[in-house]
Order: sequence, then C-alpha cells, then structure tokens
Amino acid sequence: MPGDENVKKLIAVLAFPFATHASPLLSLVQRLSPAVPEARFIFFNTAKSNNAIFLEDDKRWDSIRPYNVSDGTPENYVSSGSPMEPIENFAKATPENFRTAMETVVEETGMGFSCIITDAFYWFAADMAQELQAPWVAFWTAGPRSVLLHLDTDLIRGNLKLSSGIDGKMLDFLPGFSGICATDIPPEITCGDLNSPMPRMLHKMGLMLPKATAVAINSFEEIDTAIVNLTNSRFKKFLNIGPLVLTLPDLKISDSEGCLQWLDKQKQESVAYISFGSTVMPPPHELEALAEALETSGFHFIWSIRGNPEEKLPKGFLERTKDKGIVVSWAPQLKILQHEATGAFITHCGWNSVLESIVGGVPMICRAFFGDQRLNMRTIENVWGVGTGIGDGEITKDGAMKALELVLSSEEGQYMRQKLEDLRKLAFDAVQSHGSSTANFETLTAVITK
Ligand SMILES: *[C@@H]1O[C@H](CO)[C@@H](O)[C@H](O)[C@H]1NC(C)=O
Ligand SMILES: *[C@@H]1O[C@H](CO)[C@@H](O)[C@H](O)[C@H]1NC(C)=O
Repeated sequence: MPGDENVKKLIAVLAFPFATHASPLLSLVQRLSPAVPEARFIFFNTAKSNNAIFLEDDKRWDSIRPYNVSDGTPENYVSSGSPMEPIENFAKATPENFRTAMETVVEETGMGFSCIITDAFYWFAADMAQELQAPWVAFWTAGPRSVLLHLDTDLIRGNLKLSSGIDGKMLDFLPGFSGICATDIPPEITCGDLNSPMPRMLHKMGLMLPKATAVAINSFEEIDTAIVNLTNSRFKKFLNIGPLVLTLPDLKISDSEGCLQWLDKQKQESVAYISFGSTVMPPPHELEALAEALETSGFHFIWSIRGNPEEKLPKGFLERTKDKGIVVSWAPQLKILQHEATGAFITHCGWNSVLESIVGGVPMICRAFFGDQRLNMRTIENVWGVGTGIGDGEITKDGAMKALELVLSSEEGQYMRQKLEDLRKLAFDAVQSHGSSTANFETLTAVITK
C-alpha cells in the first residue's frame, strides 16, 4: 500500500464478524468502490470472517484490502462451546482492536481516514468520526422496522413495564407498529439480561445512530410505505439502497450439487426450498417433524442443510424420498428462489433471505429463531401477506403439512404469489436508473466522496 500514488483517500470499513453481517457490508463496499476510484477501502474484520468472505484473486476489487483485527480470544482459551462466547470475547476487545488496527494503517501509509463505514452495531464510531472530523456511514443489515425499534428501546421498555412480563402486550403506543405483539420484537429490547453484551450494544446503537451522517440499509423504500416517513424523520439521512443482490455483477455461483438442473425437471411452483441460513440449526425434533411432513405430504423439495444429513435426518429418509427431493450441503439460494419450479421457501426469516425470496417471488413458510426474525415473520404474514408462520412457532409435523398445503396447493398460496409479484416489481423498479434506491445510492456516494 505505501508508495501507491494513485490512492488519494483512505476509507475505513469496520465489519461485525458474526452471522450474516460482514458479507453484505462487503457487497456494499464492492458497489461503492468503482464510484470512488481514488479511494482505498481498508476492511477491518477478524481473520476468520475475512477468510470466509474474501474470495481469492478477484482483481475487480483491488482497491478493497482486508485487514485482520483481534477477535478477543484470550490466551490459552478453552471454549465452552457456547455460541455466544466468541461474540462476548469480541465485544470485550472492541473498540480497542479496531482503534489499534486503524492507527497502524495510518502510521504505515502516512494518510488519515477520510470516512468511516461501519456495521450499524458500532455505536462507538460516532466518537471516532468526530475525532477524525470525517463522515460516519452506518450500514444496517436487517430490515427498516427493527432499526426503528432499537431507536425507541427506552420508550418501549418504559411502556411495556417489563417486570410484569410482556406476554399479551401490544406495541400500539408506537407509531407504525399497531397490531405487533411485544413478544414479536427483537428479544434484546425486552427479555433476559439487558446488561449482557448484545442488548447493551443495541441499546447504545439506538442512542448513537441518529448521529450518523447517513444510515444505509439493504432494502427499498417501496417495501413498507407505512414506515418510510418514520425512518426518514429519525435520521440525518436514511438511505434504502437495495436489494443489493440486484445491483451487483453476477458472480460465478457454484451449483456443485446440481440443484438447478434438478429444478429444471420439476413442475412450475411445485418445490419447497428449505434453508435456515448459515447460523441457526433447528433442534433435532423439529428437523424430524419437518422430514416426516415432507415424506407424508409428498411435496417435492430441496433441503440445504449443513453437516452430514444422514446424522441430522431420520433413518432411511434420504433413501425413501430420493425421487421427491434432494438434500444438499450448499445451495445457490438466489438462483433457486428465482427458478420457476420453486413454490415455497421454508426459512428462518433472516433479512437477506426475506429479500431474496421477494426478489424470487416465492411465498415464505416461517420458523423464526432470534434477533429480528420474528418481527420479519409478522411483517411477512400481516403487513405484506406473502407467507405464513408454522404452527405455534416450533416446527411440528402437522403444522408443517398445513403450511405446505396452504402455500403450494391452495388459492391463498396463489394470492400470496400475486402480492409478491407486486413487491417484486417494486424491488426491480427501485434499482432502475430512475428508481429510489439508485437515487439513494448516489446520495451515499456523495457522502463518502465529499
Ligand atoms: C489474515 O488472516 C488470514 C488467516 O489467518 C491470513 O491468511 C491472512 O494472510 C491475514 N491477512 C493479513 C493482511 O495479515
Ligand atoms: C409521507 O410524507 C409525504 C411527504 O412528506 C406525504 O406526502 C405522505 O402522505 C406521507 N405518508 C404517510 C403514510 O404518512
């Protein structure tokens, strides 16, 4: 990097290395980089996450450099196996790990950072940006409704009177959220130890985010017109710039297990695609219930499941269903959702999956787990009407069969598809040259080049 005379600007990018956070941030930076050719983007992230998202030898993104920061794992550390532990270790090391790395880069290059782009979680960037006299762009990787809730954490906690429990309480006191139950919102706002690292980080984020020069989000304004004015009024600039999947060059996507060829042989809108994302795995009894529902109902399916499926699914399931479905360890999700044979998506309702389902026009069957997933599920069911929950939240055989029936072979399923067609069209329009997301992206580019 030193000696590279064409670099006129350094931009720091601070990623959150867990769940599906770092890769959408990298997509955003990949999209920004050609618009700011004189800039070098330094992507600060843990080695593990950098390794997972930076593909080798892609010269197109030469101006984006990964930089490893400490993940906070103590020396001689023995993991207890708890999934929260790496996050807690990382939270303890933050923001010092980022500060140290950023200072090193400034020393090495003799240049200062002219802009900071961060995962929206990083509330401390407000102070960093002020010290540097540089703009702070925060990137929110979930939907527009959840960010509003985090902004109003204190108001919500006060109104709900948490000590008496939240069951049966509604969010009707909050503009834009009437009909939403308190139990549907991100649990970090209302439940458990509110002083543990994630609830604390999200609370502080809610207080600091309005100071950001701009908040960018992988969504589009037309997706939820009931709250656009709310988001716009709470931030200096709230920029819906998505769906990002529609704005990136078509990467070579591997389909090593032949999902698309298999889909080519299936009837239109007949196949259920199942994936719970890269972070969660439903408990064994739910996997079993879903397998039984598929087997009994006879619907065709593609099931993307990490690990060895023989160990995760009931004995003999793969053999007995081999004419009806395929089970794969990796699937080209967006391509599957855009395939005309796909008729239902059984999903954990992570925001990226929800957007991809909308882009593909596929109704969703929702099994939400954590964070904003329940809120996304309610939005899918009640606001857009493009999907259904599954039983009482957990997957049961009966619940899964009813949901598959509803989406794949009832009139209501067809009606969901019609509504999706409207949403899908709005998504594609938003990224056209005169679309709202395109205009917002230009505003964002102006913020970082200023
Ligand atoms: C970051 O860590 C990865 C994995 O340990 C390593 O391969 C890579 O060279 C490191 N990058 C830098 C810039 O040090
Ligand atoms: C949002 O704001 C615009 C312009 O300020 C206004 O015309 C519109 O009616 C508002 N929409 C809602 C749903 O309040």
